[in-house]
Amino acid sequence: MPNQVRVGLVGVGQRGLNHLQSLVKLQSEEIGSFVALADPFAENLSPEKIHQWEPNYDERGMHLFSSADEMIQSGEVDVIWFAMPPNQHRGEIERAAEAGIAVFAEKPQTLFFDEALSQAEAIDAAGIPNTVGFQMRFHPAYKAIRDHLADKWTAAMMMVAEGAVEGHGVKHTHTEERGGPANRIWTANRAWSGTSMVEAGIHQTDIMRYWSDDDVEWVRASYVERPKHLWDIEGDNPIYYNVTYGFKKGAIGTLIFTKPGRSYYNGRFDTVIWEHGTIKIEGNSIVDYHYAGDDWSPRLRPSVDETRKVICEDPGFDGMAMQNTYQLAKTFLESIIEEDESLTRNTYRSSLNSLASVLAANASNDLGGEKINIDDFMYSDDFARFRARPAGM
Ligand SMILES: NC(=O)c1ccc[n+]([C@@H]2O[C@H](COP(=O)([O-])OP(=O)(O)OC[C@H]3O[C@@H](n4cnc5c(N)ncnc54)[C@H](O)[C@@H]3O)[C@@H](O)[C@H]2O)c1
Repeated sequence: MPNQVRVGLVGVGQRGLNHLQSLVKLQSEEIGSFVALADPFAENLSPEKIHQWEPNYDERGMHLFSSADEMIQSGEVDVIWFAMPPNQHRGEIERAAEAGIAVFAEKPQTLFFDEALSQAEAIDAAGIPNTVGFQMRFHPAYKAIRDHLADKWTAAMMMVAEGAVEGHGVKHTHTEERGGPANRIWTANRAWSGTSMVEAGIHQTDIMRYWSDDDVEWVRASYVERPKHLWDIEGDNPIYYNVTYGFKKGAIGTLIFTKPGRSYYNGRFDTVIWEHGTIKIEGNSIVDYHYAGDDWSPRLRPSVDETRKVICEDPGFDGMAMQNTYQLAKTFLESIIEEDESLTRNTYRSSLNSLASVLAANASNDLGGEKINIDDFMYSDDFARFRARPAGM
């Protein structure tokens, strides 16, 4: 039943505009009917502004709201894409679920784990379709890594993301009117982003879970703080993150993030070790170095080329690319239309492990690198202070 699912988008900012592009395209393909936008800042709803990102956006017939609650109460939508800053949620996801509206939640779902649990409970109680915006799960090459590992034991995953502190002015929330950073670059601000490990590292954390088909059991983290005299200009997020995850089936995951100011260098290193091989991303190829002969160890050492097997050709765009966001949106809408939850690659509930892991990494760093069990972080009183929204926020 194409086009019968009515879609609303809450938060028409940097990420919301990506979703808007996908939703406009999907509507033209008769998958879903894109009918409503909500944003508290009127300029973000203006067709002139939106056309700068998506010329095919058609404002005719679009319902415009200044809050998520107005959209929820309107009765005009069947599913809502939530793409607002993660510290700005105030029970909207819960109220949408209670109204029977399906939920697409951008990552990080919230910065306060108590509220994530409340969102999960409302979603589960309502039984509505739901998913979280981890588009890397839709990267064909990453799916190939997962499929390749399906009959193997993953021993270790190493990911290094060399980047720089955010300095670009592409954010659309008027943070200066809400006690946030004057320059609107809230991703560099700890109170708004929850640190870069939460805001960005949650993607790598989630993809390690996807590759290994596993959950994080414990975390240990050490960060290097940005020197205080730079906070006014560069924000107060750490400059370096070193996070170690222990996975339930035994793998160790290492995630390193770098965020110096005034650097525009971007580098990455991803390796997966399984019991008999080393998986590398080499240019446009995903490669497994593995000796497949049944005479191990062979009398003559094989050359590296003899062990090199291309698992798949990378399609040439990265895990964060728009194609993957489009596939994520398409799949979620199709899962609603076909009433087949198995089409989605995560649920709100299953994604709690990714969120808890990065929030617990922050707690571990605060506790001097203490090893934190994720279930304890999620439910034990010992970590209650790390789960609650700070007073006054
Ligand atoms: N999956 C990804 O790759 C990806 C990429 C970028 C951002 N994100 C996530 O998307 C979310 C939004 O980030 P962004 O970069 O678009 O930020 P942004 O500041 O550019 O946009 C947020 C939008 O939400 C609106 N907004 C603010 N408070 C609101 C409220 N209470 N109700 C409704 N709308 C509200 C703002 O006006 C703004 O238009 C964040 O959770 C972020 O982490 C995900």
